[in-house]
Amino acid sequence: MQLAAKTKTPSAPEPAQKGPIVRDVQCNPMDPSLRQTILSQMKPSLSSYDGYHERLETAYGRTAEIRKYTKTLTKASRSSTNLEKTAQTLSLPPLLSLKGADGTYAVKRQLGEGTFAPVYLVENSAAALVDGDVSDENRPPSRVGKATHRKHLEAVKMEDPPNAWEFYIIRQSHRRLGVSRAAESVVRAHEMHLFRDECFLVEEYRDQGTLLDLLNIARLESGNGGGLDEMTAMWLTVEMLRTVEALHSKQLIHGDLKGDNVLVRFDDPGTETDWSPTYFPSGAHGWASKGICLIDFGRGVDMKQFVPNVAFIADWKTTEADCAEMRELRPWTYQIDYHGLAGIVHSLLFGKYMEIIGEKAGTALGQGATRTYKIRESLKRYWQTEIWSEVFHLLLNPLAHLEGEEGRRMPVLRGMRQVRERMEGWLEDNGEKGIGLKGTIARMEAIIREKRRKSVKNM
Ligand SMILES: Nc1ncnc2c1ncn2[C@@H]1O[C@H](COP(=O)(O)OP(=O)(O)OP(=O)(O)O)[C@@H](O)[C@H]1O
Ligand SMILES: [Mg+2]
Repeated sequence: MQLAAKTKTPSAPEPAQKGPIVRDVQCNPMDPSLRQTILSQMKPSLSSYDGYHERLETAYGRTAEIRKYTKTLTKASRSSTNLEKTAQTLSLPPLLSLKGADGTYAVKRQLGEGTFAPVYLVENSAAALVDGDVSDENRPPSRVGKATHRKHLEAVKMEDPPNAWEFYIIRQSHRRLGVSRAAESVVRAHEMHLFRDECFLVEEYRDQGTLLDLLNIARLESGNGGGLDEMTAMWLTVEMLRTVEALHSKQLIHGDLKGDNVLVRFDDPGTETDWSPTYFPSGAHGWASKGICLIDFGRGVDMKQFVPNVAFIADWKTTEADCAEMRELRPWTYQIDYHGLAGIVHSLLFGKYMEIIGEKAGTALGQGATRTYKIRESLKRYWQTEIWSEVFHLLLNPLAHLEGEEGRRMPVLRGMRQVRERMEGWLEDNGEKGIGLKGTIARMEAIIREKRRKSVKNM
């Protein structure tokens, strides 16, 4: 394993990389050794990335302590009588002091359940100094930390085995997207501390839950066990389509799109802007402050590191959650995200996991495709069935939509934009009917806020 030297030499910029690192025409982009090759050979090297701290000679050894602490806390939070007793016996929260970090991180609780990649909520002492009050999760973020996006509460993801891939993909996403609307829909990665035995990815924390949580809330609210109302589902679909289209246009694939990898982003439009009840696709009048935020880039792919005609082959046992190409052992690239997106849209509409059926296609679809796929579920008659059919057709059969694309190749950027614009048009025309899109979003925001207020009180 080759790893670049850790010392930073800002005065002598590294030479830019010429062409892709991986020359194979066929490979599995998630293969750990292939990723390691990319990380060790790319230029500029990871060690030149702001916030990257590599100490592979050192073992950090904190996993057991952190787990024990958060497990005890979780158990105690289930019964309030236990909580007081636990508060007395529980050791102090684990403190992470990491060389190169501005302050220390105090572990508060576990956010994600993952065994191989637990995510923790932490208090950043550096931002806390700026903010003042350290105990209130509901307090608005500090103004001072705005430029750096650092906040008093942040998320720390520990990946096992330790690796910097996710950090790399998130940083590349922001670098390539620049200051743009899509960039607001991609989580920020502040730091990566890579040790021999453990690693700590410090991320922006969002406290409003995932799309999956939102669906569960909506289901409880409506009591009908289905999905969201059509208007909200369409609005969230637009948010997803815009973000994924932008990532793909920069040759980046998320690789694991599903409801629990998308955070809800209901920010405050700010005091100067009032949030208009009329929907503005441009994001004007407060609309840009509401949307989604993609997380979990651990299965991301940087297409810039592969030759243009690369064909990925899944070498794992596939399931219904994998795209048709993978299941049929046909080559794929961007399809992984289209399939993931289709699954999310399906769950937003129906409140359940997507099942697809394939029909023998009359004409050849290219790249070995012989079937046309559609969802098993039928769209409700009173929905915008034409629009939804178009979305699913595109996402489940992208190869049938290459006609209008540049060079007749993937990704299907034009197709994505067309369906999105169609949905945006519909939302512009209909967004104020009934309680309106703004009304629905505001109500969901209020429910989330109330839920959080209650749960914070119990912790
Ligand atoms: N930045 C964040 N802010 C708020 N919640 C987060 C954040 N990152 C992760 N989470 C929560 O933790 C969960 C797991 O995080 P993530 O998806 O990054 O890890 P993972 O690799 O999916 O872990 P696993 O699949 O093993 O649970 C998310 O579904 C979300 O609920
Ligand atoms: Mg996840």
